[in-house]
Amino acid sequence: MHDDIQEILLSEEVIQNKVRELGKQLSQEYEGKNPLCICVLKGAAPFMADLVRRMEIPLEMDFMAVSSYGAYTQSSGVVRIVKDLDTPVEGRHVLVVEDIIDSGLTLSYLLELLRGRNTASAKVVTLLDKPTRRTTGLKPDYSGFEVPDAFVVGYGLDYAEKYRNLPYIGVLKEEIYSV
Ligand code: XMP
Ligand code: MG
Repeated sequence: MHDDIQEILLSEEVIQNKVRELGKQLSQEYEGKNPLCICVLKGAAPFMADLVRRMEIPLEMDFMAVSSYGAYTQSSGVVRIVKDLDTPVEGRHVLVVEDIIDSGLTLSYLLELLRGRNTASAKVVTLLDKPTRRTTGLKPDYSGFEVPDAFVVGYGLDYAEKYRNLPYIGVLKEEIYSV
């Protein structure tokens, strides 16, 4: 285990089993729909890469980068599109792939934006959900795990751009972000 990690919340095996399960479910759900899977960069990249390989149906991938203005470990609700999609989404079944939903502000904004472009459907799959932090009515359509209100890193999630490459999800030692 990495020295900066206090506790492993979700092991690599537990994550991969869940990703397989979600992939199977989404394969059934999106059969014949050629969904456009949208990865929200950067955090969702590992999840997206693993998930699409467990979806055994024709699909397309695209990437979006957004940044929320505001505090470091908190989202402010003001979302800026840093990289937009390359693919027109009108009439498409889009599936937004997220790493974690916290307040839900980022996703509420994104879904509204996508639906405004006249998608056939716009749904969300998130690996992690922190429902106790929700300030919006947003509910993910598909979700891997509920996590407690702690700052978690690994499997895409970062602190100051570090730890994204850990194959598991863990809680960072407090001394790392309190200095
Ligand atoms: P909102 O509040 O808009 O925030 O749902 C979603 C984004 O906030 C980040 N986030 C985290 N990142 N560990 C992280 O590394 C966490 O525990 C955490 N909680 C929220 C993340 O970028 C997510 O997309
Ligand atoms: Mg994110």
